[in-house]
Amino acid sequence: TSTPVGVTPLMGFNDWARFTCSAQARLDGTTAGYSFQQFMEDQAKAMSDTGLVAAGYKNLTVDDCWMQRNSAGYLHGATNWGSSSQPGFDSELTAYADYLHSLGMQAGLYTTSGVNTCQGVPGGIMGHEQADANSLAYWGIDSIKLDNCGTTSSNRQSEFTSFANALGTATAGHSRKILFNESAPAGAGPASATKYQTMDWVRGLGQMWRVSPDINVWHPNPADSWDSPHAADWYEGGIYQNFTDTVALARYNSPGNANDADMLLIGDNGQLTLPEQRTQFAVWSAMGSPLMISTDVRKMAADPVTYAPQLAILKNADIIAVDQDALGAGGYLASRDNASATAGIDVVVKPLAGGKRAVTIVNKNATATNYTLDLGRVGFGNLGCARTAKDLWNHTSSTVTGSITTTIGSHDNAMYTIDPGNCGGATATGMIQSAQS
Ligand code: GLA
Repeated sequence: TSTPVGVTPLMGFNDWARFTCSAQARLDGTTAGYSFQQFMEDQAKAMSDTGLVAAGYKNLTVDDCWMQRNSAGYLHGATNWGSSSQPGFDSELTAYADYLHSLGMQAGLYTTSGVNTCQGVPGGIMGHEQADANSLAYWGIDSIKLDNCGTTSSNRQSEFTSFANALGTATAGHSRKILFNESAPAGAGPASATKYQTMDWVRGLGQMWRVSPDINVWHPNPADSWDSPHAADWYEGGIYQNFTDTVALARYNSPGNANDADMLLIGDNGQLTLPEQRTQFAVWSAMGSPLMISTDVRKMAADPVTYAPQLAILKNADIIAVDQDALGAGGYLASRDNASATAGIDVVVKPLAGGKRAVTIVNKNATATNYTLDLGRVGFGNLGCARTAKDLWNHTSSTVTGSITTTIGSHDNAMYTIDPGNCGGATATGMIQSAQS
C-alpha cells in the first residue's frame, strides 16, 4: 500500500529516549537469543494490542545501532545488538518491514549525515547516499531519520540535500514514498542566524525536523525531567526546555511540515509524574509536534490495568485531533508570565481549521493555581458573545462568554478547543505572525 508522507505530524514509537542502544531482556527477564529486531517487533505488536496503532501511532522507528556496513559497502542489519552478544537485525530488512506493514504500521530507520552515527557505528550515508537510499526503498522502509553526527555547519546542508535527492531517485515511480525526518536544526543549537538558515533549507527537503535537544537521555534522573538542571548545556534537554525552544519556532509548522520537540516520555519511563505526562502530551499536541512514544509498550500491553492512566493520555482522541489538525499551524506562546520552569502560567494557542482554537494552560507552580483565561488574549473578539468550549481532558462542553476560570494542579494543564460560534472575530491564522518575534 502507498504511504501518505508527512501530511500530518508523524505519530508512532522510537526506542531511543527510553532504551538508547542497550540490549534489553524479554519481559520474563531472559536474554538468550533475544534480538534487537525481535524487541522492536514485540513493541510493534504491543502497539497494536494496546490500540495505539488504531489511535494513530503507526510509525515504528528504530534509532541508532540497528545497522552495519558490509565489506562491499552496503548497509545491512547489525549482527549484534549494540556492544552485547545478543543478536541485532536480519541482514536484509524486508521481512521486518513486511511484519510492521502486516500490523498496519510503517517502518522507520535511523542514519546520520556523516560516516559514523552518534554511537560510533560506521553506518552513516556519507559516500553511500544513493546506495543507502536504494536499500531503504528496496526493503520497503517508510521513513528515515537523518542525524547530524559526522557533519558540521559547512557540509551538513550538502549532505542532507544529496540524501533528499537520493530518496527521490530511489522511490521514483514507487507508490511507497519515504518520509524524510531531518535532525539538522537541533544540530544548529539554540536560536541563531545559522539555526534560522537551517530551518529554511530543511523545509524544502523533508517533512519534519528536530529543533530542540535530546530529551532526558543524558540525565535520566526523575528529578531532572520537568526541566534540565543542565540547561546551561543546550544539548541536554527536558520537557520545559524543549517546549520553550520549539514553541518559539511555531511559524515553521505548516501542512506537511512539523517541528519535532523530541520523544514522549509517557509510559513506564518513571521520569515524569502523571500530571507532567499529561502536560507533555498537551503541549506537544498544542505545538503540532510529531508524537513519538519512547517507552516500554510491551509492559503496557502486558498490564493494561496498571498502565491505564498512561494509555488514556496517549489515546486521548480530542487532543490527538489538535495535533493532527488539517490547518497544520504551530501552537504559539500567547502568554508566559514567568520565564521560570517552576513558577507562573504558560498559555499556548494553536489555530485550528474552521476558525477554532486550541488553548492549553500550563501551571508551572508547585501548588494548584486558580486561573482566569481572557479569550481576548488568545485571539477572540466580540467578548460578550457566547461560544462553546470543549474541555479536552474531561470531554465536556460548556458555553463561555469572555473568559474561562479553572483550577489547575501543579505541573498539570487545562486544555480546551474553543469554537468561534457565530461571534465573528478570529480568523484561522491571524494570530500566528503577530505572536512571533
Ligand atoms: C542524537 C539524536 C538522538 C539519537 C542519538 C542516537 O543524539 O539527537 O535523537 O538519535 O543521536 O545516537
